[in-house]
Amino acid sequence: MSDVTHTVDVSTTYLGLRLCSPIVASPSPLTGDPGFWEEIEQAGAGAIVLPSLFEEQIERESFGIDATLNFGTDSFAESLSYLPELDDYDVGVARHLGLVELAREQLAIPVIASLNGTSPGGWVKYARNLEDAGAQAIELNVYDVIVDPRVSAADVEKRYLELVEEVRAEVKVPLAVKLGPWFTSLGHFALALQEAGVDGLVLFNRLYQPDIDLETLDVTPRLQLSTSAESRLPLHWIGILRGFMSCSLAATTGVHDGADAMKLLLAGADVVMTTSAVLLHGPQRIASMLAEMSEWMTARDYSGVDQLRGSVSRRSVPDPEVYQRANYYQVIHSWRG
Ligand SMILES: Cc1cc2nc3c(=O)[nH]c(=O)nc-3n(C[C@H](O)[C@H](O)[C@H](O)COP(=O)(O)O)c2cc1C
Repeated sequence: MSDVTHTVDVSTTYLGLRLCSPIVASPSPLTGDPGFWEEIEQAGAGAIVLPSLFEEQIERESFGIDATLNFGTDSFAESLSYLPELDDYDVGVARHLGLVELAREQLAIPVIASLNGTSPGGWVKYARNLEDAGAQAIELNVYDVIVDPRVSAADVEKRYLELVEEVRAEVKVPLAVKLGPWFTSLGHFALALQEAGVDGLVLFNRLYQPDIDLETLDVTPRLQLSTSAESRLPLHWIGILRGFMSCSLAATTGVHDGADAMKLLLAGADVVMTTSAVLLHGPQRIASMLAEMSEWMTARDYSGVDQLRGSVSRRSVPDPEVYQRANYYQVIHSWRG
């Protein structure tokens, strides 16, 4: 556990697990490298999410994760020293389960495993394997880009719900679902997921968008790390969902400093997750985020995270319209050139 002390209580509850801090190290090559685990824990992470076990691995199909990771990392020179060898990242199923076991042995903070797939099928049994390997919770990453126009939104939601139900039937540990932001009625689907038995939602998956190389005309996957501004999307939706969801809510994408984290907790997140900031600055970034948050809370006499969570959610603010359409009108009319 971290030996950093805080003047306020930064502990929180996520997926029924009591965590020493609300900052969770989300999946990345760093969380998949045992060489960084101690530093992540010492910096004060409340939990660690290991890189996903990919459906592609399970089906033994080729998958270009290495190629994807190779693109763009050179534009983040600072991050390179934190990126382990990519071969280490592309682990097979057995090795992945070994990683979960090792993480449980070496870490005192909860270890969350991640499954990354797009369709229900035989791979669901690996959820049980991850649990058997010691994962204290499982995050189901339903990363998907629907390119077939014959597939409706209802079809997609039905498939995801079936997938969740199948995995739910396989495991006893808490289950979270990591979603992309583009659902026509996210609140409706979020409630359906909760009814299907998920213990938490991780909002939002950051979908990697292709780029076009103007010299070669190749369509290139380009991995760009996030910026703080991107945390406004999870902030918006967590602020809305907190009012009617009883399951845990984790904010992911764009958490780069203590201010980003504080805003998401105030909107109603139980935890915030961070990857890009840790890749850019190293695990110590978690400690500086926590220090910044403690200072902010102390200056305002908050006793801790539990006291302030959700106090600026849509349900709690005097004018809920700020989370809705009326805000659109106000914002575009606030421009002064
Ligand atoms: C190099 C890299 C590898 C990642 N690997 C995974 C993964 O295995 N599983 C997963 O769910 N998300 C993965 N992600 C996504 C992150 O966990 C996170 O959701 C995303 O980067 C947005 O958070 P951020 O703004 O803090 O970076 C990866 C991201 C990066 C940059």
